[in-house]
This record gives sequence, C-alpha cells and structure tokens, in this order.
Amino acid sequence: MAKELKGLVLSGGAGTRLRPITHTSAKQLVPVANKPVLFYGLESLRDAGVRDVGIVVGDTHAEIEAAVGDGSQFGLRVTYIRQDAPLGLAHAVLTAEDFLGDSPFVMYLGDNLLRDGIQDLVAEFRAGDADAMILLQRVPNPQAYGVAELADGRVVRLVEKPAEPKSDLALVGVYMFTPAILAAAKAINPSARGELEITDAIQYLIDQGLRVDPSEVTGWWKDTGKLADMLEANRLILDVLEPRIDGTLEGSTIEGRVVLEAGARLINSSVRGPAIIGAGALVEDAYVGPYSAISTGVVIRRAEVEHSIFLEDSRVEDIDARIESSLVGRGVVIARSEAKPRAYRFMVGDSSSIGLL
Ligand code: DAU
Repeated sequence: MAKELKGLVLSGGAGTRLRPITHTSAKQLVPVANKPVLFYGLESLRDAGVRDVGIVVGDTHAEIEAAVGDGSQFGLRVTYIRQDAPLGLAHAVLTAEDFLGDSPFVMYLGDNLLRDGIQDLVAEFRAGDADAMILLQRVPNPQAYGVAELADGRVVRLVEKPAEPKSDLALVGVYMFTPAILAAAKAINPSARGELEITDAIQYLIDQGLRVDPSEVTGWWKDTGKLADMLEANRLILDVLEPRIDGTLEGSTIEGRVVLEAGARLINSSVRGPAIIGAGALVEDAYVGPYSAISTGVVIRRAEVEHSIFLEDSRVEDIDARIESSLVGRGVVIARSEAKPRAYRFMVGDSSSIGLL
C-alpha cells in the first residue's frame, strides 16, 4: 500500500569548499540561475508529493529560516531542526528522530541538484517493499563521493570517499529510507573524519540483511559544494531557461536565451544568452556573455563578464579584460582606482582567491 513520505532536507554543515562565500552565508543559499540551490530541492520534494519537510539547520539557521519561512511559498509545511554541530549525515538523521517518528522519508542534501527531479523514484519507493533506496550516478572522480559496489544489480558494499574506489558509481545526495535507518545510525561509529556517515548506516542495513535498492540516475546531477560544480550547475540550468524580457533596454542588444527581470536596465550594452539578469541590476557600456547569472542590484559598467555568478549588490566597473568563471560575493566591488601612488588595493575576506592578469 502507498505510504505518506516525509522529507528531510540537510542544510547544516560548514561549506568549507565554497569559502569565502560561506564564511558569511549558507552554501545551500548560493544561487544557481539566481535561485538558491536549496529551493530546487524543496520544489522537487513538493513535485514528488511530499508535504511535511524537516530542514536540518546549523549555524546558518537564521538565514535559511528567513529564506524558506514556513514553506508555504513552496506548498510545503516546514519544521526546522537544530543540529548543534555538523557531526555527519547520519547524526543529522538522529537529530530529526522526533520529527520523523515512524514515517518513511526522503532525505535530500540541500546542496544537491537533480535535473529530472525525484517524482518517479519516490513513486517507485512508495509502491515497493525496499527498506532503503539509494540513487547512483557514474562519475569520473568517485573518490570525492560515497561509492557503491554492485553485484548482479544488488548493492554489496558502500564506502565513503575511498582513496581507491572499486567502482565509478557515486552516491547521489538523495536517499529514501524506512525508520530502520534510525537504528542503523545509532549502531555505527564515527568515521576517520569524525562524522557519523550515512554511507556506513546504509552499509549496516545491508549487513543486517535488509533490502537496499539501487537506482541509477540518468539525467544530470550536481553536488554544488565546489566552485567548478556550482558554475556547471549554473550553466546547465541557464541552458533550459525560458527567455523573458521584463526589464528595459536603451541602445542595447540581446541575443539568445535571456531573462531580464523587471526593473533591470541595459544601457549601451550587449547580452548574449543563456544569461539571467536580476531585478534592479544595471548593465551599462558592458557585455554580459553566455552562462552569466547576475543577481538583483548588481552593477556591471564598462566591463565584460561571462560564465560567472554575481551575488546581490556586487559591482564591477572599468575592467579592461573579460571576467570569467568567477563567483563574486554579495556587495563585492571590483573597480579601477585613480588613487596615487598607482597600486593594487585590496580589502579581501579570508580564503578568497584573485586571479590578476
Ligand atoms: O553530494 C553527494 C555526497 O554527499 C555523497 O556522495 C556522500 O556519500 C555524502 O557523504 C555527501 O558527501 P559530502 O562530503 O559532499 O557532504 P557534505 O558535508 O557536503 O554535506 C552534505 C549536505 O548536508 C550539505 O548541504 C550540508 C549538510 N550537512 C552536512 C553535515 C556533515 C548537515 O546538515 N549536517 C551535517 O552534519
């Protein structure tokens, strides 16, 4: 018989690989095509028929609560669950024990993005008898992920970030569980990196003879925890953007797939899509090239940018060479200075990286 599934979205953690952006904000709120990556996951859960969602939050809880609210904007009922420290994905599940009760659930890592959503997978799990279902995808660098070994179509071993992977099948950050996973998470010990690994908890289910079904994801999947993956996710989403021009153009041209939000202004500029330019942004005497996501309030003036993400209220002015493959944080200013003596002058946050010509 079909069962009601709850959702558990993991949005705690540290985000060390996206510093400095994540020194000051949650990695799950970094936008992909101008929408926080977390929102795509919440929409996928809703589209799969999930209504009750628990969001595990850590130090960045205030920012996530402000962005998601009570979940009604997504058609969801959201409960926030505080995790005191990022002690692992299985620890996050245990933190959510009261919320989960005896319900089966979909666990969704808040920095993961799946093109085709999870509707069919959730339907398959609801209809079947598996104790857990894991999603897998072949990747060129399996050592960066949890890795699954299959034999005759069954999962035989799961290892978290192995130095010498036995297969190229990575664990995608979406899992379906029955409450059996709670007992498993209680039974395992912390890994070498000091975390209670969900990978080990699922291995425990297998060792107990429970049924863990694998399902290979065919559409694209991205874990946006690193800059290169974030830019690629941005590229993939912009590629399927529905073009829309609600902003204004003065002496400017637009080519290809472009979204220009209401209140965005192009003056003597050219934009070549796929690109999105947010509300209130100003592009003047400038070029915005393919795969650019320009957030609200950004100013690009006498400069050329492409294949980059600019967060809210950042400003780029009078730069001779094209800026590309960049992630520019909120309120950042990149501009020429007339001050003497002629010199580079920086005020740059911790763990920033700057590439000069
Ligand atoms: O993206 C898929 C990979 O996600 C899997 O292949 C791995 O098996 C799995 O362990 C996980 O690896 P990561 O190292 O990428 O996980 P990360 O630490 O980035 O955490 C994933 C999400 O969960 C992220 O949004 C932060 C959140 N989180 C993480 C921890 C450790 C929590 O909410 N609480 C935590 O304690």
